[in-house]
Amino acid sequence: MKKKIFSGVQPTGNLHLGNYLGAIKNFVALQNEKDNDCVYCVVDLHAITVKQDPKILKDNIRETTAAFLASGLDYKKSIIFNQSLVPAHSEGSWILGCIARMGWLNRMTQFKEKAGKDKEKASVGLYIYPILMAADILLYDSTHVPVGEDQKQHLELSRDIAQKFNLDFKTPDFLKAPEPLIQKNFARIMSLKDGTKKMSKSDPSDLSRINLTDKKDEIINKIKKAKTDNAALPFDDIELNKRPEVANLLGIYSSLNNQTLSKSINEFSGKNFSEFKHKLSDLVVQKISPISDEINRLKKDNDFIDKILKDGAEKADKITSKKVSEMKKIIGF
Ligand code: TYM
Repeated sequence: MKKKIFSGVQPTGNLHLGNYLGAIKNFVALQNEKDNDCVYCVVDLHAITVKQDPKILKDNIRETTAAFLASGLDYKKSIIFNQSLVPAHSEGSWILGCIARMGWLNRMTQFKEKAGKDKEKASVGLYIYPILMAADILLYDSTHVPVGEDQKQHLELSRDIAQKFNLDFKTPDFLKAPEPLIQKNFARIMSLKDGTKKMSKSDPSDLSRINLTDKKDEIINKIKKAKTDNAALPFDDIELNKRPEVANLLGIYSSLNNQTLSKSINEFSGKNFSEFKHKLSDLVVQKISPISDEINRLKKDNDFIDKILKDGAEKADKITSKKVSEMKKIIGF
């Protein structure tokens, strides 16, 4: 069966190694598999659920697009566009918001994390954000959605919304419940400063993450300063699981090298950190520096990036405006 792939990344700056290993690397692999139809979206409507500086937002949209291309996405093979250029995402989101239940949204853990202690001050957009995400996915009849572990609950909500719409309107196959594609081992890359916290764009410490735009010296410095402990590298995964920072660094090494964690454990067991960090730095530089150089090159050509987004949006618009029209007919408009 032909796979229909959809995924998105927020243009909120500081795209990092977690976004790359948890999501974008997989986008590229799926694009290059035979017969897949892939749609990759710079989700700028999602970005404004928290305050954005209008001058910086546009740069971030272009930079995220540049990161897609620099990582290996090809606008001739995949549809690449930014969400705000395609009105059906907003329209579909409103309709699905009338299907989703408050109780479902109240369970979303990411809202609780992002809103923090003062929920009353969070935007309504942040609360209903998973509904927009459901519209993104369902408007393309997506069958598979590659994401990191943190988006799993939102994917389940998309499935619930699809099923309830189909049930309410007695249209059993109209909205397709998508399958999440979450990598088995490396779906959650952690902060370099705290192995129990996700690597995140919004962490105030730049040393907590490797940005896809980091230069060689910055990468080497960040890995040198990454938190570890004093013991030698572990001999097995039982010991590894008790040492989150070490598990994270070995996970990054394995994922970038396309090898299993146990192979990496064997490679370094009993060795000291300076030797491991040296090898890890070399590998990260080897994989990430070409992406960083290409992002910086593409960032100088706004016209090229804007044209890709516009062309992609035209293709996305054709697919989604048809789906929204069908939705409206079903509803009775
Ligand atoms: P966003 O922009 O926060 O992250 C983009 C992708 O990167 C993954 N990711 C990580 N993976 C592993 N380790 C990490 N530390 C890490 N941090 C982020 C995320 O899981 C995600 O796959 N709501 C989404 C964007 C979105 C979307 C969609 C995704 C909007 N509509 C429809 C799929 C389908 C988000 O905020 O991702």
